[in-house]
Amino acid sequence: MNRPIGIFDSGIGGLTVVKEIIKTLPYEDIIYFGDTARVPYGSKSRETIIRFSREIVEFLLERGVKVIVVACNTASSNALPELESLYNGTPFVGVIKPGVKRALSLARSVIGVIGTRATIESGIYSTALGDEFKIVQKPCSLFVPLVEEGLIETPFTMEIAKFYLNPLKKEHVDTLILGCTHYPMLKTVIHEVMGEGVDLVDSAVEVARFVGGLLDKGGTRNGRRIPDYSFYFSDMPGNLSEIVERFLGRSVELKNVYLG
Ligand code: DGL
Repeated sequence: MNRPIGIFDSGIGGLTVVKEIIKTLPYEDIIYFGDTARVPYGSKSRETIIRFSREIVEFLLERGVKVIVVACNTASSNALPELESLYNGTPFVGVIKPGVKRALSLARSVIGVIGTRATIESGIYSTALGDEFKIVQKPCSLFVPLVEEGLIETPFTMEIAKFYLNPLKKEHVDTLILGCTHYPMLKTVIHEVMGEGVDLVDSAVEVARFVGGLLDKGGTRNGRRIPDYSFYFSDMPGNLSEIVERFLGRSVELKNVYLG
């Protein structure tokens, strides 16, 4: 059944998940929605995050998607349960559980979690990680605007990373969950600050595997074919196509749709 996979994020962070899904499931069509007009979600209330997420889900369902990947930790931690109960015929895949599973398999004694304020304050990671390991959490609010602006490896990005991450180093974090889909784009900088011995957990790989398993179970995987990709953004700032292309390693057509 050749129906697309729907993937959304508040902006371009979800492309880290798209990249893994393309690698793992090369015959699947993808419809991506990045809410660049309303990013960041991480500083918004739960009610607003739910409202925005519902609008995007409606948009994706109108386009016949067979599964929806909530490629945003902020929306996964604040809106996923509501989405699942409102649209109970639709399979949803969030990004929290896959990251937690991976972190628990790597951790030695201290797990760090970085994310947006809304994700950290939702308490979802501390609940999901349980009490086997010490957990240290830190919202890193400036990381998202840096990524959205394409300011990935600048000296001040490094200084901001040190400001956020040094306290986690002092707590001897050995496994760090990148609890925001924008953060893998800063992996090099985060790795440099945290040092060699620290494992960085990016849930994208696990999410892609999980989606594959779900399609197999439902018998809805596409056969061998050239896939079709659509990338919608609610705002198209001048440098967007350059950032998307740099990140996906290919040039794609971007479409502008404003919701709400
Ligand atoms: N990429 C998002 C996340 O995973 C959200 C960033 C934001 O909108 O604040 O949390």
